[in-house]
Amino acid sequence: MKLTKILAMAFAMLLGFSSLGANAQDANFHVVPMPQSVQPSNSGNYILDAQTLITYPKGDKAMRRNAEYLASFIKESTGLELNVTTAENIQQHCIRLTKAMKDKNKEAYNLRVNSDIILIDGASDAGVFYGIQTLRKALPTGKSVKIMVPGVEIKDAPRFGYRGAMLDVARHFVTKDSILRFIDMLALHNINRFHWHLTDDQGWRVEIKKYPKLTEIGSMRPETVIGHNSGKFDGKPHGGFYTQKELKQIVAYAADRYITIIPEIDLPGHMQAALAAYPELGCTGGPYKILTQWGVSDNVLCVGNDKTLKFVDDVFTEVCKIFPSKYFHVGGDECPKVRWAECPKCQKRIKDNHLEADGKHTAEERLQSYMINYAEKVLNRLGRQLIGWDETLEGGLAPNATVMSWRGEAGGFEAVRQKHDVIMTPNTFLYFDYYQTDQTENEPIAIGGYLPIERVYSYEPIPAKMTPEEAKYIIGVQANCWTEYMKTYNQVEYMELPRMAALAEIQWCAPEHKNFEAFTGRLKRLMNVYDVKNYNYSRVIYNARISFKTDMDNHASIVTLGSFDNAPIYYTLDGSAPTRNSLRYTEPLVIKNSTKVRAAVITDKWQSPEVSGDIRFNKATAHKITFLQEPNSGYAFSGAPLLVDGLTTTDMNFRNGRWIGFNPNDLEAVIDLEKESEIKSLSINTNVQPGDWIFDARGIEIYGSMDGKEFTKIAGESYPAMTKDQENKPQICKHVLNFNPTKVRFVKVKVLSEHKIPEWHGAKDKEGYLFVDEIVLE
Ligand code: ACM
Ligand code: ZN
Repeated sequence: MKLTKILAMAFAMLLGFSSLGANAQDANFHVVPMPQSVQPSNSGNYILDAQTLITYPKGDKAMRRNAEYLASFIKESTGLELNVTTAENIQQHCIRLTKAMKDKNKEAYNLRVNSDIILIDGASDAGVFYGIQTLRKALPTGKSVKIMVPGVEIKDAPRFGYRGAMLDVARHFVTKDSILRFIDMLALHNINRFHWHLTDDQGWRVEIKKYPKLTEIGSMRPETVIGHNSGKFDGKPHGGFYTQKELKQIVAYAADRYITIIPEIDLPGHMQAALAAYPELGCTGGPYKILTQWGVSDNVLCVGNDKTLKFVDDVFTEVCKIFPSKYFHVGGDECPKVRWAECPKCQKRIKDNHLEADGKHTAEERLQSYMINYAEKVLNRLGRQLIGWDETLEGGLAPNATVMSWRGEAGGFEAVRQKHDVIMTPNTFLYFDYYQTDQTENEPIAIGGYLPIERVYSYEPIPAKMTPEEAKYIIGVQANCWTEYMKTYNQVEYMELPRMAALAEIQWCAPEHKNFEAFTGRLKRLMNVYDVKNYNYSRVIYNARISFKTDMDNHASIVTLGSFDNAPIYYTLDGSAPTRNSLRYTEPLVIKNSTKVRAAVITDKWQSPEVSGDIRFNKATAHKITFLQEPNSGYAFSGAPLLVDGLTTTDMNFRNGRWIGFNPNDLEAVIDLEKESEIKSLSINTNVQPGDWIFDARGIEIYGSMDGKEFTKIAGESYPAMTKDQENKPQICKHVLNFNPTKVRFVKVKVLSEHKIPEWHGAKDKEGYLFVDEIVLE
């Protein structure tokens, strides 16, 4: 085990004890998600002890179940064992559950505490359940005999009716027991939709009686690629599936907790596991193998084949019998069209249905739309409503489709414009398979990205520019968890938590009530519940945070440090490791010379892993820089100054905000040295990952100027196209250009990108991406 992990665990234990300080035995209604209104009342505090009864309306089975949940939550958190009873004339010393509230929001509840009683009154069984969750999260954890519950009036209801979480069990299967544990975790966060991604290229997980080979063959892949498509495989079979009987049990378990499970059968792409079982459903007829590495397969359902349409109808019919959900997710994302373009059956379908290219859409995009429209007809016949990923907009949206916007929010805007319901789930805020820290050395491997909890929390699903009329189409918010890099359920928990707490507040709270600092206080107590449940959650929030800004006017790097709950931070500037005797951080540091900043949170009991920044000044550092060609909008991050901030990253994660990506442009930038300066070399780094279409530079060039207008070429160099043997070798390439010492004031740097991906690559002839970090001028 890594030392940092041991430290983190020791720290967590200490936190557990330290929470038993003053008033630790009192309840506190500032929970996650924060209720809409919490008003202290002066009708006394309630003393909760083993004599407290939990009462529910006689003969009401759902309310009895609610009462039993509450009793079990209280026992689990505090050790107190309360009796559940229907004795409705009990007016004192009880927690009374009622359903008298009238509210058009059926998930609303009131919670009132005085010296005699705790009353939870809901607009429905679900409303009562959310009141129970609030009380449960308000209680202190650890053995108690008496708990003071402060007098309070809470009025609460969720902001969004659709509060979702998606889990992919196709890439890695998890057991039924793990799914039940996942459902309990959703309930703790007041989430009411579990979107279950059950099928993909790498595995089929749901028993279909009419097509038994889907699970006999499609549920077990022979091996799995190691790491990020390294080209090496583990040689171990992986798989599993759920029988229809098990699925029905899971559906009932979720329903008891007011969670609807929305199944996803992803089509027409992401189907290679099904094609491995039934090759006749693919355009070439196979044979196909279950995909053993990550990414998207070109082998998709043959939409020209009538058997495929029957297959979809049959599978949906069986799946609908298992899942009573009104919504059914048909995927529709990332469907390559190359097989259709070459398939006589698909081309005939295009011709027969007049799906020719129409200026807006290609014929094959319209064929995808044909498939989704067909799926919608089947679902509507079965009394269900279709949800699809935002690609279902391409080629024309099915008439009643709900759109799940994942590639940012653009698809959501477009769907709203077309008056379709939308669920927001943008990858840049809500993909919980991304790293939660930018210090990934001590982290288990993830897909990439950088999505700290602060960023999740900052997400606002209804943009200011939307009218209230448009905003009505945004029915909810969801976070997604794709499990390519989560081999175990334990790792799923780690990736979900505590970011799911931030999600819960986006889904539940009015935006004007959101406040990250206040949230962290609530989160601290929610983590006590995580400990009670023995959840595996990330502690990166306890670590020191470091961020850098470049002050071009003063040619300085401004280093800002931060910590959870304002824990003390110590730092050094001399390269030594920070200790309690180091400098105590109070305000941003202004760095003007090459310096290594090292910092850590250090308390009486614990020291966080270190954060650091090795700021190296060269002639370009912290000088004004302007792009003459724009980077790709998805990978511009903080823009041109990132290239002269003095920091050269060695982290290969191209989404970490430390690289800038270009596509289809080249990098072309002008740096103003502000006075005549002699230079004799230029160096840059490129981040090269052909698997993700990211190629090395094809050349670099440097030009000089005294007036910033007329530039003269100083030097240049070209590089050959990459070769196939480099395909599976992600690497950072350093390019250095040396030249005769030259005096200049303005420097223009060009880094040429790969404009035509080589023949051997799956994306041949397309524009490659170029990722560049620091420009160094000496
Ligand atoms: C997706 O992330 N492919 C929906
Ligand atoms: Zn076909």
